[in-house]
Amino acid sequence: MIPIKSSEITPYRLYQDRRQFIKSAGALALGAAVVAACGAPPAPAGPAAASPDAAGSVALADERADPANSFEEITNYNNFYEFTPDKQRVAQLARDFVTRPWTVEVGGLVRNPKTFAIEDILAGFDQEERIYRLRCVEGWSMVIPWLGFPLRQLLAQVEPTADAQYVRFETVLDPEQMPGQRSPVYEWPYAEGLRLDEAMNDLTLLATGLYGQTLLPQNGAPLRLVVPWKYGFKSIKSIVKIDLVADQPSSLWMIAAPNEYGFYANVNPDVPHPRWSQRSERRIGESGRRETLPFNGYAAEVAALYAGMDLRRNY
Ligand code: MTE
Repeated sequence: MIPIKSSEITPYRLYQDRRQFIKSAGALALGAAVVAACGAPPAPAGPAAASPDAAGSVALADERADPANSFEEITNYNNFYEFTPDKQRVAQLARDFVTRPWTVEVGGLVRNPKTFAIEDILAGFDQEERIYRLRCVEGWSMVIPWLGFPLRQLLAQVEPTADAQYVRFETVLDPEQMPGQRSPVYEWPYAEGLRLDEAMNDLTLLATGLYGQTLLPQNGAPLRLVVPWKYGFKSIKSIVKIDLVADQPSSLWMIAAPNEYGFYANVNPDVPHPRWSQRSERRIGESGRRETLPFNGYAAEVAALYAGMDLRRNY
């Protein structure tokens, strides 16, 4: 499948902003790429940096000028254990996954519990493009142009009470459609959690698409979380339930291997996984390895959330 060019799908205002950005900073973005190639730290460019290619269309890149992975790569190399642990077979096994009707129940410690139909989520929140790096705990990474909206906008509608300290997320339980859920190895449904201030951070996204297209099943259709400074397993797919809770929730991976996976799961090159180092990563589509950055390169936006915490103990 050939992705639609971002210039064709980006909302017109964003598109204009981006063209303006290219005019004023295109040279800077290209310059940053040269600096990075020389081994110095890449210079920051504006949000959703882009540079024009020879034909004048927009090549997508993250704010460090790392080019986005291709649509093919992003939709054919997936972790979605509900289907299979084989990354290259997820797309095929998930192809016919039915995502309509779909509702997302948001409740728990809130003043205004609400069940959203997916159509209301798509129509009710402005969908914006966010180009984020995704770093999997297994040591590979990608750059993905998501379409979505900040989770805090949805949480604002349900009005968390003062007792709400954490947010718990749940994936749909549907073993008929998801063969992996028939395996007793994991405790289904897949669950994840965030501290409330992490959930309210502007980077934390609910994604509904990528490359300007509706999310495909393998990427977590119709709605998935994206938390770019944490290992990819926190970014739970195909969400049907979001609860505000008082106590730190458990997750599928914490239950499966508590000595390997903690609640926070912030990308941290200084804390090795018990079975491998986290110092470097392989960007899908590249042959060498890149240095892994604290908080996956988003320290400026999120390090303050963990001030005073021992990040070795709270891994
Ligand atoms: N969500 C569910 N429900 N099931 C999963 O197996 N895998 C996680 C995360 N979300 C997973 C999930 C892991 S380990 C990663 S790295 C990312 O999804 C991968 O997202 P992608 O396939 O869209 O790149």
